[in-house]
Amino acid sequence: MSDEESAGSGVIRRDRFSGGPARGFLSSLAADERIFAADLAVDRAHVVMLAEQDIVDDDVAGEILTALDDVEDAGHEALPDGEDVHEAIESAVIERVGPDGGKMHTARSRNDEVATCIRYQLRADVLEVVEDTLALREALVETAAEHTETVMPGYTHLQPAQPTTVAHYLLSYEAAVARDTARLLDAYDRINQSPLGAAAFAGTPFDVDRERTAELLGFDSVLSNSMDASSARDFLAETLSALATHATTLSGLAEDVIIFANKGYVDLSDDYSSTSSIMPQKKNPDTLELVRGSAGDVVGDLTGLLTTLKGLPRAYNRDLQRAHGHAFDAVDVVANATDVAAGAVATATWNDETLADEAADGFSTATGVADLLAMAGLPFRTAHEVVAEAAAEAEGENPSVATLDAVAEEVLGASLWEYVTRDAVEAALDPAQSVASRDSQGGPAPSAVATDLDAAEQDLATDTEALADRQDALVAAAETLADEVSTYE
Ligand code: ARG
Repeated sequence: MSDEESAGSGVIRRDRFSGGPARGFLSSLAADERIFAADLAVDRAHVVMLAEQDIVDDDVAGEILTALDDVEDAGHEALPDGEDVHEAIESAVIERVGPDGGKMHTARSRNDEVATCIRYQLRADVLEVVEDTLALREALVETAAEHTETVMPGYTHLQPAQPTTVAHYLLSYEAAVARDTARLLDAYDRINQSPLGAAAFAGTPFDVDRERTAELLGFDSVLSNSMDASSARDFLAETLSALATHATTLSGLAEDVIIFANKGYVDLSDDYSSTSSIMPQKKNPDTLELVRGSAGDVVGDLTGLLTTLKGLPRAYNRDLQRAHGHAFDAVDVVANATDVAAGAVATATWNDETLADEAADGFSTATGVADLLAMAGLPFRTAHEVVAEAAAEAEGENPSVATLDAVAEEVLGASLWEYVTRDAVEAALDPAQSVASRDSQGGPAPSAVATDLDAAEQDLATDTEALADRQDALVAAAETLADEVSTYE
């Protein structure tokens, strides 16, 4: 037998299976463009490891690695037909190398291969979203720092509740986005584990070095159990949950700013607004409406993913081909929405005067007056009753000091001035002084906000480093892999 014959045709046989009318239905080749670069990296790391383990000769490894460079240069669109990118790249390698190209797929399966590719690509995508969350936090912190004294109405049930400041409001979202960052970084650490070498699900008799391929690909660790490694997709669920949570945070921020723009509290920059094709005067907050709407896509993706994964038996099932698309869609939607939210916040103008004028509307200082009476020794419930009575008397207006005093006489049978001074009541009715008085930890008083601003800046610096560490590790691994590949070519 000649070498050629013993090696076979090297062509992936499709004559028996999946060449029929369902071929297009089975194929993920178009969608797999997203993992084209990942698959090339995974192929390279695998081939280097096969050579190091003497499973494949160095010269064959060199030919395969050279062919992979050529396949990369030609691009995804130049790939031959295939059931997926893994099969198509293998065919393209065999076209260039001949039957020995088929040695690339020794000691692995498309099942561990695709799981590795998804993780390889998704981790980079997640780091981009993390970066976007940091930019949003920076915009929130910087704008907050300019507005620690900018008093504004605060709401519950969308009704005026208590005066607060723009800084306190913005930092409330900064805190939520910081937790979103943390959830994404947590998810990243579980994405970044290597399934490669698990083969179909049941391991391989070849003496593979799974730690080595993990290292060459920049994974932090190996997923040991081969059945788990090739079939687990909980990392997608975790990532999508973190993305959906963040998208939900963004939708709340967007909704608030849309409402604030409606009330004239904030002006969006023209770059983040749209006009109407018919109503020339319109300036609409379309970008933020799309941010708000993005949450729908992401929640839909999470639901789609979990529904696909629910009840799947071990080990690999082809349903899984439909799982990761949800994560890639969500990560793109969230990256864009976060980026736009950051830009909108950074360029918006807060209208200090309008905000100050309306800060006390709806008797929003009522709680402060009740607190004042309670601090003077009245039970808070009694103080609440006095102020509630005064609010009722004032019929939608803010009660005067005289009204408060008259109500106190009625309810307490004593003058208000037996408890508090007139100056203190006037201060409590003033929104800026009301805010300044609430200096408990995390409160809106400028002094309390200053402490929270410092902490937010420090957390931002810590997370920026955490991101850089992960990015640097990936760059270093890519360089190591390229160096190793070059020794065979
Ligand atoms: N394209 C498939 C996926 O995305 C991987 C191929 C595994 N196919 C198989 N028949 N075992 O999940």
